[in-house]
Amino acid sequence: MILAGGIGVRAGLGMPKQLARIAGKTIIEHTIGAVHGSPLVDEIIVMMEPDHLGAVRDLTVTGKYPKLTTILPGGATRNETSQLALAHLGDAELKVLFHDAVRPFVNHRILQDCVEALDSYAAVDTAIPSADTIIEVAHGGDVITDVPVRDHLRRGQTPQGFLLSTIRRAYAAANTDPDFVATDDCSVVLRYAPDVPIFVVAGADENMKITQGIDVFIADKLFQLKSADPAGFEAADREKAMLGKTVVVFGGN
Ligand code: CTP
Repeated sequence: MILAGGIGVRAGLGMPKQLARIAGKTIIEHTIGAVHGSPLVDEIIVMMEPDHLGAVRDLTVTGKYPKLTTILPGGATRNETSQLALAHLGDAELKVLFHDAVRPFVNHRILQDCVEALDSYAAVDTAIPSADTIIEVAHGGDVITDVPVRDHLRRGQTPQGFLLSTIRRAYAAANTDPDFVATDDCSVVLRYAPDVPIFVVAGADENMKITQGIDVFIADKLFQLKSADPAGFEAADREKAMLGKTVVVFGGN
């Protein structure tokens, strides 16, 4: 499920940021291409911002993405978009990955780790260590209330993966809660299906989320670097993902 229902207010581009172009293609086409390239992915559904469905439909006529079978309008919030995607699926058990349309650098290794983790776990997240110290604040961000131990913190990315029955059960419970709000899918499982352990797969620094306008520029440069040496990029990622499991950090911020 490629989630592309957002309008990109923070990027301020005057259009959904997934339609910005880097290296001659829209960001969403890069993302579709990256996911499509994984032999473990059988089918791709894109949940698109309703006013721009045509931009993704145009990609299907090229014949380049035969696994892209379905394009549906997204909802008003990310969680609504996820639920609309789930409503489209049948009753048979499936492994479902949700991926942000604005993370075009997702790689085979991450997709494979997520899909394989779903053989043993019913929910999986992708995350990286935080280079920055994370602080908890109050009063609109003016005052620090806590500085959680950095080794216990990760920055969540996507894909997030689930057995279909598990994520449906979590959303069914969430929808009975009048105070339900969430910005991702794993937190729905954490809160509303708390019996389910969520496995964490190593993400990658380059699996960045294009959020602000400057990220489009950074992504463009990153794309140039990556296309100059795709194999080297992938090898470095594998090495880092392995290290991430045993990394020891010595002091300092
Ligand atoms: N998303 C979605 N449906 C929504 C909102 C977001 O499918 N109603 C998707 C976005 O298209 C994006 C991903 O969720 O691929 C991550 O969301 P975010 O970066 O917050 O995107 P936007 O909502 O577009 O950005 P902003 O919050 O700045 O408006």
